[in-house]
Amino acid sequence: MKILSGIQPTGRFHWGNYFGAIRQYIALQGHEQSFYFIADLHALTTIREPDVLRQNVKDAALDLLALGLDPKQATLFRQSDVPETTELTWLLMTITQMHLLEKCVAFKDKKAKGIAADAGLFTYPVLMAADILLYDSTTVPVGADQIQHVEVTRDLAQRFNTMYGETLHLPEAYVLDDSAKVPGTDGEKMSKSYNNTIPIFETPKKLRKIIMSIKTDSTAMESPKNPETCSVFELYRLFATPEAQKTLAERYRAGGMGYGEAKETLYQAAIVHLGEAFDRRTQLETSPDVVEDILREGAHRARAKAQEVLERVRSACGLLSKPV
Ligand code: TYM
Repeated sequence: MKILSGIQPTGRFHWGNYFGAIRQYIALQGHEQSFYFIADLHALTTIREPDVLRQNVKDAALDLLALGLDPKQATLFRQSDVPETTELTWLLMTITQMHLLEKCVAFKDKKAKGIAADAGLFTYPVLMAADILLYDSTTVPVGADQIQHVEVTRDLAQRFNTMYGETLHLPEAYVLDDSAKVPGTDGEKMSKSYNNTIPIFETPKKLRKIIMSIKTDSTAMESPKNPETCSVFELYRLFATPEAQKTLAERYRAGGMGYGEAKETLYQAAIVHLGEAFDRRTQLETSPDVVEDILREGAHRARAKAQEVLERVRSACGLLSKPV
């Protein structure tokens, strides 16, 4: 399998990013190709402060490494360190039909809200297609919200191949059912734009406060409760073993347990699960040069593959395989 995925450095990563994507990055590292990148070019469509973007990229790298991404088993790089990406984006743009992009959710949502979208947001899925196709990727671990973009990528690859002959490989999204759409504190999809996130790296005190704020229904303490319709339980499931899940589900159904107690159980599980990464992050923060070296080395490896694929694409559509 040739794995590739990207994550935007738009702020602090949250549990949705972790369970929907990052955990899969780590589980899949060590394959024939495991490429993961920080999508700073994509982030330019929303972050307009250069210092914030620079800081976010550093934080993103620290977070990923602390969570277990191992540079010996995977290649971690900054998207903007591979300029072949933007060249392939243009080549793909020339074969992209407008209607394909008009139906993409991020653009459609903005338009529906009456917000003027710029060309960057409109063509965002083509940049993402270039990210994926540039490395002959077969498998793209993502959450459910990105499936549409992987479908666009497949459509573009197919269209290119029909026009110019077999050149690009068709990738597939890799989505785990039980973490495809992690709920936020209000029960909707966890997302920075909904202001409902639980950050992965948070101080215990703040984390506890956020968990205590998760919205639940008003079933009385003594009454039986349904774990299947409760966000607290849905989140707990992501951390807990099947036995631990069963134990908490039984306590829900038996009655006599308040939501406060369920939230406390979730908090404890999160602390245990993420505690080690928290310590690793603190450690890594003291060596920013090491992190920068990892990104540079990663870009070097990624570019070698990107150049090979781009030469093939340039040549297929009638350009010189390499610029003179
Ligand atoms: P981004 O940065 O919004 O999110 C990164 C990853 O986290 C997943 N995710 C979730 N999964 C489950 N539940 C949630 N609540 C949740 N919130 C976020 C996302 O599905 C994603 O996998 N366009 C991409 C970045 C990108 C990319 C790529 C991904 C750029 N190029 C090439 C794959 C391949 C994005 O904005 O993800």
